[in-house]
Amino acid sequence: MPRAAALFAAPAPAARAQVLRAQVLAAGRHPVLAAAAGAGAIGLARSHASRSDTAGSGEADLSQLPFLYGTAWKEGATAELVVKAVRAGFRGIDTACQPKHYQEDLVGAALAQLQTEDGIAREQLWLQTKFTPIRGQDPGRVPYDPKASLAEQVEQSIQRSLQNLGTSYIDSLIMHSPMPSLEENLEVWSVFEKAVESGEVRQLGISNCYDLGVFRLIYDAVKIKPKVLQNRFYADAGYDRELRQFCLEKGIRYQTFWTLTANPHVLASPPVRKAAGRLNATPAQVLFAWLVRSGHQPLTGTKSSVHMKEDLAAASLVLTDAEASEIASLFSGRFF
Ligand SMILES: NC(=O)c1ccc[n+]([C@@H]2O[C@H](COP(=O)([O-])OP(=O)(O)OC[C@H]3O[C@@H](n4cnc5c(N)ncnc54)[C@H](OP(=O)(O)O)[C@@H]3O)[C@@H](O)[C@H]2O)c1
Repeated sequence: MPRAAALFAAPAPAARAQVLRAQVLAAGRHPVLAAAAGAGAIGLARSHASRSDTAGSGEADLSQLPFLYGTAWKEGATAELVVKAVRAGFRGIDTACQPKHYQEDLVGAALAQLQTEDGIAREQLWLQTKFTPIRGQDPGRVPYDPKASLAEQVEQSIQRSLQNLGTSYIDSLIMHSPMPSLEENLEVWSVFEKAVESGEVRQLGISNCYDLGVFRLIYDAVKIKPKVLQNRFYADAGYDRELRQFCLEKGIRYQTFWTLTANPHVLASPPVRKAAGRLNATPAQVLFAWLVRSGHQPLTGTKSSVHMKEDLAAASLVLTDAEASEIASLFSGRFF
């Protein structure tokens, strides 16, 4: 299914990565980087302090939900499907301020319906949205002023998301893809950081970044560190082995999409089928269970009530250590 490839129709990712990689090499000498790194420690310490205060108050930490419900490609059925997913048990929702693929306003309509009909308050849900740069937008439906400066576009996108979702805060705001240059990444991120400081956004993240060097460059340069990396989980990227390790070490949630569609060979593999047989589960559930056990957070955008229940139940499946390590070896590079 080519749709995810088209989701972020960025021109020549290889060329972008090349520009950024050159900047990785130059990072030690970069004046913007040096300034950002110098300012970083205090902001990060503050952000961690407020987070642990919340944890200490006994509130559930919704950022640690095992699964997120994805809202791409649902068009006019978005509200109905989000309501169905939350009623099935999902509490984390992923969307984007990108009308080309996401109807963020209909996610907001679903939230209003859930509040009225089910008494499910905004605070009981975890909402993630994205700033999509101009090159990923449908030219006829750009949700901000395309002639405004990059910083203004980011600010307008955040305000549009708050309005679309009918909320005063966003739990997680993601840059849909790294920008072509370090300067542009830092320009976007500085608006993101202001939104965290003002309370409009709780945490930040990055998506579609498949190069550890690029991810580290941004990570090291920014004051408020990313808490999420949302990537396609697929063989061509080596299943992000190094990036996933980096995320685990830094307390960054690695979120997966294309999890089932890019991996029919994994679903058909003997370790997955064997575990599915023992657990009386589906191969899809076993792959999701392995990701959750590995500390990652899969997204599912299923439209089926049966699959919604199965996907949620996957988080409770208990793989043995031997099963988990056999499945891990599928992503080690020796098989695919
Ligand atoms: N950051 C990005 O650039 C980006 C890109 C793509 C996606 N995303 C996010 O990720 C979300 C998920 O997207 P996705 O690409 O992973 O695809 P998806 O929309 O989750 O579709 C996955 C496919 O798997 C099927 N499925 C789901 N659960 C299943 C189960 N238990 N057993 C068998 N089949 C099952 C679905 O069919 P049924 O509907 O019939 O269940 C569907 O055909 C999106 O909605 C979006 O929020 C982000």
